[in-house]
Amino acid sequence: MKFSNNFLFRKLHQLTGIVPLGLFFFVHMFTNAKAMNGDKVFNDAVADIHHLPFLIFIEVFGIFLPLLYHSVYGIFISAEAKINVGNYGYGRNWLYVFQRITGIFLFFFILFHLLHLRFGLFGGFDLTSVAVAGNADRAYSIVAGDFKSVGILLFYILGVGATAWHLGYGLFLFAVDWGIVIGEKAQKAMLYLSAAIAIGLFAVGTNAAFSFVRPCGLVPQILCESEKSGTSVTPGSKKF
Ligand code: HEM
Repeated sequence: MKFSNNFLFRKLHQLTGIVPLGLFFFVHMFTNAKAMNGDKVFNDAVADIHHLPFLIFIEVFGIFLPLLYHSVYGIFISAEAKINVGNYGYGRNWLYVFQRITGIFLFFFILFHLLHLRFGLFGGFDLTSVAVAGNADRAYSIVAGDFKSVGILLFYILGVGATAWHLGYGLFLFAVDWGIVIGEKAQKAMLYLSAAIAIGLFAVGTNAAFSFVRPCGLVPQILCESEKSGTSVTPGSKKF
């Protein structure tokens, strides 16, 4: 009997991927998107999060522990699973293989991202060694400082893309496995819906990332309302 086939552990793995992690990703991309409206709006959004009561408990029980469980058990599933694309080559098998590849990449991406922006590790190069936590008034300039490096910006866009894909296909697998969509037609519709959610999250997250390098990101500036703080980095100091 494989550890990755344990019914309860498997269900808990699927559930943690949707709530709270999927939900967190949704909220996180929309908070990041506030950078479209300038440094003050983003810093205020980060400060609002830091002012939440019992934040450390929300982080530990709502993010860190579910993330730890989801990633460690996900590695077990990947290690114990047979890769059968070669044998069958069906689209669904490729999607499943890609689910594992994005999962493994995300393990390293999220670990780096957390240690760096949440806990302030890794200084040098273009990375600042200051954590955003405890420095909400500098949150925008800390991220903008990192994103001056095209490599870091691309790494983040890859991270957003991998998360959007992983969550999108995860939503589809969840809906099928929990018996929410049963018929072939319903499953096809669910696949399209999941793809639309993934593309939407990728677009919002990528535009948010570009908002740390140019005002309003990649969309026309008419869609943004910038409130100047008079401090920290001026958006637009580097054009793409
Ligand atoms: C445009 C890309 C991204 C930017 C600019 C960004 C920015 C940030 C910032 C500034 C923080 C620190 C917040 C704080 O300490 O209050 C943070 C935390 C975090 N980010 Fe991201 N992030 C991005 C992408 C992602 C992705 C793709 C994931 C994957 C799920 C992710 C997961 C997390 C997690 C788990 C935390 C810790 C949350 C907490 O402890 O409150 N981020 N991010």
